[in-house]
Amino acid sequence: MDQVDEPMLEPRGPLSDEATQFRLLLDSVTDYAIYMLDPDGYVKTWNPGGQRIKGYSPQDIVGTHFSRFYTPEDVAAGLPQRGLEAARNDGRFSAEGWRLRKDGTRFFASVVIDPIWVGDELVGYAKVTRDITERVQAQQRLREAEASLLQAQKMEAIGKLTLGLAHDFNNLLGVVINALELITMRISHDPRLTRNVEAALRAAERGALLTRQLLTFGRGQNLTPQPHDLNRLILELADLMRRSCPENIELRFDLAPGLPVLQVDRSQLEAAILNMVINSRDAMPDGGEILIRTRRAHTAIPAATEHAAQDMVCVSVQDTGTGIPQELQQRVFEPFFTTKDIGKGSGLGLSQIFGFALQSGGFASLDSEPGNGTTVYVHLPVGSTSE
Ligand SMILES: Nc1ncnc2c1ncn2[C@@H]1O[C@H](COP(=O)(O)OP(=O)(O)OP(=O)(O)O)[C@@H](O)[C@H]1O
Ligand SMILES: [Mg+2]
Repeated sequence: MDQVDEPMLEPRGPLSDEATQFRLLLDSVTDYAIYMLDPDGYVKTWNPGGQRIKGYSPQDIVGTHFSRFYTPEDVAAGLPQRGLEAARNDGRFSAEGWRLRKDGTRFFASVVIDPIWVGDELVGYAKVTRDITERVQAQQRLREAEASLLQAQKMEAIGKLTLGLAHDFNNLLGVVINALELITMRISHDPRLTRNVEAALRAAERGALLTRQLLTFGRGQNLTPQPHDLNRLILELADLMRRSCPENIELRFDLAPGLPVLQVDRSQLEAAILNMVINSRDAMPDGGEILIRTRRAHTAIPAATEHAAQDMVCVSVQDTGTGIPQELQQRVFEPFFTTKDIGKGSGLGLSQIFGFALQSGGFASLDSEPGNGTTVYVHLPVGSTSE
């Protein structure tokens, strides 16, 4: 049987009149706040999208000024008015920024304002707002993950380079030191020569110390992990820490009781804690407070590929010093990065901490705000042995 084409029928019922069609359209949109403002910026209409995104019902909002969607800072800066002026003068205004919901929470909005003209008369504005908070937050998380991966790769590369160099230098300096010691024995009759050779020996030994710190950063140190009670180790170091600090620096301890025993290399752990305390001391030329804290922690190693949380113990050193500028916070762990004068610091303290923590199966991190002090954390795994 032949199909007979039905003639296109004019829609009947609610869709028959244009104004109703338009209202139904706006009422069905819930992902966009679409509404009208009068020429002075007062809300004239409101749709369910506006209600969903901003939390206001039509009764709450119609007749009030649209600047209430803006943060107090933006209102003070005249942003709402500027948006309307730009739309009127340029024919359109679009922007992205933080806006307020009825309950006071903030969302990241993508906003478009179009002027509505009837002939030469401006009768109001059409405003479309979209909530893009999730997208912005996802982008931010992605950027952070990329940055921390890049940093981890960079530290890994510097570590490998350092390790190769430090090994070679250590061997070379070993030869130099042995030869100098032999020479010292032979020339004991000549005091001037002896002094020169002793100076050379001291310099070579200092060089050997530096290369050992570099080996630690490159995770090439021979660690001898043994069971240690972290709190006891800290208390045994307390005297040395106090002697390293002037009187205007107060040392405080907050040691969690009942911490599990750690399998760690004692001398490296002691060096790490002392390095942290000395850094804090140097950051407080006018005095202040250093808080040494131990805690249990259940956390994952940030740079690890598999992010399983594990039992750790954390020792942290917090100070009330200068703090570290945001842009330097990752660089400070790199070997030879120092802001101290020549002869005051070699930039190997935090590298030692970084390498030791990693080689022990943990990690080092820091929290700092310029002017508000710094906290350096060393997380060490419970019950595991170092590589
Ligand atoms: N607690 C802290 N407060 C402020 N800045 C710090 C702190 N700890 C480290 N820094 C910054 O990080 C840099 C690197 O520290 P790191 O311990 O690696 O080297 P250094 O202290 O300069 O020298 P070294 O420890 O080898 O004597 C320091 O020069 C300093 O700028
Ligand atoms: Mg240091």
